[in-house]
Amino acid sequence: MSVQPRRARVAVVGTGAIASGGHLSALRAHSDRVELVAAVDVDTERLAAFRGRAGGGVAGYTSLGGMLDVERPDLVLIGTPPALHREQTVAALAAGSWVLCEKPLCLSLAEYDAIAAAERDSGAYASVVFQHRYGSGAVHARGLIARGELGAPLVAHCQTTWHRDHAYYAVPWRGRWDTEGGGPTMGHGIHQYDLLLHLLGDWTEVRAMASRLVHDTESEDVSTALVRFANGALATVVNSVVSPHEVSRIRVDCAEATVELTHLYGHSNDNWVYTAAPHVPPQRAAAWRTPDADVPSSHTAQLGVVLDALERGLRPPGSGDEARTTLEFAAALYKAAFLGTAVRAGEIAPGDPYYAVMHGGHSEWSPAR
Ligand SMILES: NC(=O)c1ccc[n+]([C@@H]2O[C@H](COP(=O)([O-])OP(=O)(O)OC[C@H]3O[C@@H](n4cnc5c(N)ncnc54)[C@H](O)[C@@H]3O)[C@@H](O)[C@H]2O)c1
Repeated sequence: MSVQPRRARVAVVGTGAIASGGHLSALRAHSDRVELVAAVDVDTERLAAFRGRAGGGVAGYTSLGGMLDVERPDLVLIGTPPALHREQTVAALAAGSWVLCEKPLCLSLAEYDAIAAAERDSGAYASVVFQHRYGSGAVHARGLIARGELGAPLVAHCQTTWHRDHAYYAVPWRGRWDTEGGGPTMGHGIHQYDLLLHLLGDWTEVRAMASRLVHDTESEDVSTALVRFANGALATVVNSVVSPHEVSRIRVDCAEATVELTHLYGHSNDNWVYTAAPHVPPQRAAAWRTPDADVPSSHTAQLGVVLDALERGLRPPGSGDEARTTLEFAAALYKAAFLGTAVRAGEIAPGDPYYAVMHGGHSEWSPAR
């Protein structure tokens, strides 16, 4: 008789929009591998509504520390506002729990390095939610590019042109450096350029611009960047919340094919299109098509790979250097935009103002302006 592995005991911290949507769906989809044992929120009405939706057997807490002491969960899913992510991730790691935390994982490289130190002390791991890496279309495209099957990557475009109205920015934690960490660079476009970096590998240099064009926010509502990659490819990145026709796009021109992803908040196989260069035989191009098994990009797909790692005790995807490089890209974009200089990978180290905070204390961009 085969022995079923024990289900992972999971707690949710922050029971708002993303916890009630993406995380609850993911927990339901993996109910054979996880047991939701607890939920935490300082807002008792939201907590009660979430527990009602989750369907019984979920203990409620108003304090993370209290929940960790009693429940000792295997995995903590964090869906609170960004300013709480570092402190809550470090607390969960210190209790020996693994963490899957919403993006952005934290507000600065300094905060990231505190999380990395907590990982080392505890032996547990913290991953950041970037669900678009885990859909079958992205996994397939990354494999093709990494194996050189599309030829050398040459030029890429990464576009997050979204629209957010004034009511959206009336929520107190949005648009402020100390609570959201930045504008669309940190909060919206980060999904798309995280996927671009995942597809193309190490970036080496960023030049950028940022502006406040529409919203009365501390941080930007548009940013644009030019990026050089270690493999020689050049890319443009646009992060906007002022664009009436909303779309999320990535286009990578390799020597033998162009691969294009067009979606809004999530992709499946049909969102990926491959166009062969004229010299490529059709039968070779046919092999590039994404395989039939269609895994949409989703919290469900990412939770699955985190559970695989948890069951094996291995560092999960989306943690460690993979999480840091995307955050470092955000810091580099801000530094490049605000100072008008090129910023190289690795240069934002302790002592650099952009290591401690994304606005770098810049006179026109810091909250003290
Ligand atoms: N991956 C995605 O596609 C995606 C989409 C939307 C939001 N997000 C991210 O999810 C996070 C939450 O966003 P949201 O839209 O769900 O916000 P939200 O305001 O709807 O939910 C946040 C919840 O956290 C609770 N909270 C606040 N302080 C707390 C504390 N100290 N302890 C416990 N709970 C506390 C609030 O009461 C609220 O219920 C943000 O980091 C956001 O960037 C990710």
